[in-house]
Amino acid sequence: MLLPNWLDNFIYNDLNAKYCRSNANITVIDWDKNDILNYLGTYFPRSYAEAYCIFTEYFQNNTDTFADKEELTIFDFGCGTGGEIIGLLTVLNELRPNLKIVKIVALDGNQNALRLYDKVITELQNHIDFCIENDTALVPIGDFYDLHILDDVIDKQFDVIISFKAICEFVTKDQFEKHNAYEHIVKFLTPKLVKDGLLLLVDVTSYNDTSQEWLPNMMDKGLSATKSFVTAKNRGNNQTFLITHSHKLNDCSKVAWRMIKK
Ligand SMILES: C[S@@+](CC[C@H](N)C(=O)[O-])C[C@H]1O[C@@H](n2cnc3c(N)ncnc32)[C@H](O)[C@@H]1O
Repeated sequence: MLLPNWLDNFIYNDLNAKYCRSNANITVIDWDKNDILNYLGTYFPRSYAEAYCIFTEYFQNNTDTFADKEELTIFDFGCGTGGEIIGLLTVLNELRPNLKIVKIVALDGNQNALRLYDKVITELQNHIDFCIENDTALVPIGDFYDLHILDDVIDKQFDVIISFKAICEFVTKDQFEKHNAYEHIVKFLTPKLVKDGLLLLVDVTSYNDTSQEWLPNMMDKGLSATKSFVTAKNRGNNQTFLITHSHKLNDCSKVAWRMIKK
């Protein structure tokens, strides 16, 4: 698929994003302003494409989901520069014409990423029919116990919760003292979903040297411990997504994803 023209122009020309790939097991939480511009030019379009494709297929197969809604609420755990939010909002704009307002809470621990995300979401408003209300939350989560700090930030329930390639960073940094990070984060997030709400987890598929486990296996173990209802998932071990933009033809990402319905 193609990155929309306006978005391509905006990130590469107005914001000065760069295309520059990094090694596996990256931890973006620590990245400075220049690193995050590389992130925006390299990984933002991938997350955009993943969210766009997964939600397009889901909403086309589940035509009743959010069909009559005029207002929708979204929470992103570890939004970074927010490619997945822009992808999801683009799909909602195309497939859910009744929407009048979408309220977002976008959480991340990296201030540089949130600054760029704020600029992109402000620009997106010029290209979308419904009204976007965005609330950005700068919350670096140190350990397992910090998750409860979030109860103050997220004091309501959401129709959709998404987390793209963020939980792997908790695993790499062993932030939950050998506990399964997917299990704990999903246990924490599920009560924040409305009934029939959707939780989409997307993550890289690599072998993690810290947990000494393949991440999709760890994700599945975590989800089965929470007894979550997985309503859709990638086929096989991973799913490939391709995105073309001015800096790369058919840039390829491989991820594992699980859609949970409450
Ligand atoms: C690989 S990036 C993914 C960003 C975005 N979801 C995407 O797909 O483009 C992981 C994000 O998780 C955030 N993150 C990682 N560990 C975190 C922590 N302990 N507290 C808050 N945010 C964290 C990082 O700052 C980073 O923006």
